[in-house]
Amino acid sequence: MTRVLVTGAYGQLGNEFKRLSGTIRDLEFIFTDVNELNITIEDELDKFLEKHPVRFLINCAAYTAVDRAEDEPDVAYLLNADAVNILGRICIKKNIQLIHFSTDFVFDGTLRKPYTETDVPKPLSVYGKSKHSGEINLKKLKTGIIIRTSWLYSSFGNNFVKTILRLAREKEEIRVVDDQIGSPTWAADLAEVTVKILRQHKDTLNQLNWGVCHYSNDGECSWYNFAEEIVRLAGLKTRIKPIGTSEYPAKAIRPQYSVLNTSLIKNWLGIEIPKWKDSLKKCIYEILNQK
Ligand SMILES: NC(=O)c1ccc[n+]([C@@H]2O[C@H](COP(=O)([O-])OP(=O)(O)OC[C@H]3O[C@@H](n4cnc5c(N)ncnc54)[C@H](OP(=O)(O)O)[C@@H]3O)[C@@H](O)[C@H]2O)c1
Repeated sequence: MTRVLVTGAYGQLGNEFKRLSGTIRDLEFIFTDVNELNITIEDELDKFLEKHPVRFLINCAAYTAVDRAEDEPDVAYLLNADAVNILGRICIKKNIQLIHFSTDFVFDGTLRKPYTETDVPKPLSVYGKSKHSGEINLKKLKTGIIIRTSWLYSSFGNNFVKTILRLAREKEEIRVVDDQIGSPTWAADLAEVTVKILRQHKDTLNQLNWGVCHYSNDGECSWYNFAEEIVRLAGLKTRIKPIGTSEYPAKAIRPQYSVLNTSLIKNWLGIEIPKWKDSLKKCIYEILNQK
């Protein structure tokens, strides 16, 4: 049986893998988060993998607090760059195929058409820079498949969808930025496509595989459009008011346009990608029916 280790498993994406694993018979999953396995400590990783040999390592651990990262760059770099280097080295040593995730925030947002894998990253924030450093570390090691994704949400953990639902119940009007464009992505869809990669390629992928591909749900919108759809799907009446980025000062600078071109992964796996509104509908249903 092919064994798969998921690190950072108690976050949004990790939890989606956990849920999905319940339906999978041909892969055996091990789930860890920082308390069981701290990916910044090489010795800990080494010993863990000695005890639990695996064929794949899916790294969902990351420092994802975009604004807070501006005040704690050391912590962001430790997890998003240094730890990724450690993971890459260990995976080479132990012949493990690493799957790692990165972000649309590696781009500066000046392009006005969806970013492809060959467009040059130019991150604007500490978070984006730290994630880009993680990508560079794997590129130097020539190991790891990096899946860049964007605007991730899930019924697990904290995210924009849950924040808007909470605010919409508390307030009559919410002001949301209308001049940043991206593609909301349901973490459940990302987990599913990642498993598809493992399934389709488990016999051909080896530790020498390095590459970047983009995965986000289909279509694009502003945060304002995203919020409107969340409120509509939840059947709430709250007014959503569009505002400019300048009216909502945040610590980190975000790209104005960070839509990812997903042609490569579609052709590679022969898949259709769900439209963002369809996936959002499923996730909202889940959240509203959570016990
Ligand atoms: N969220 C987004 O909008 C977004 C957008 C684009 C790309 N991505 C990328 O997608 C991936 C998954 O993101 P996500 O939203 O699922 O992240 P998340 O919810 O923040 O989960 C990250 C997990 O990693 C854990 N962790 C922290 N330090 C660790 C350590 N030293 N060792 C092991 N685990 C550790 C965290 O634990 P604690 O909670 O205890 O710290 C948390 O459970 C990341 O690579 C992220 O950069 C996310």
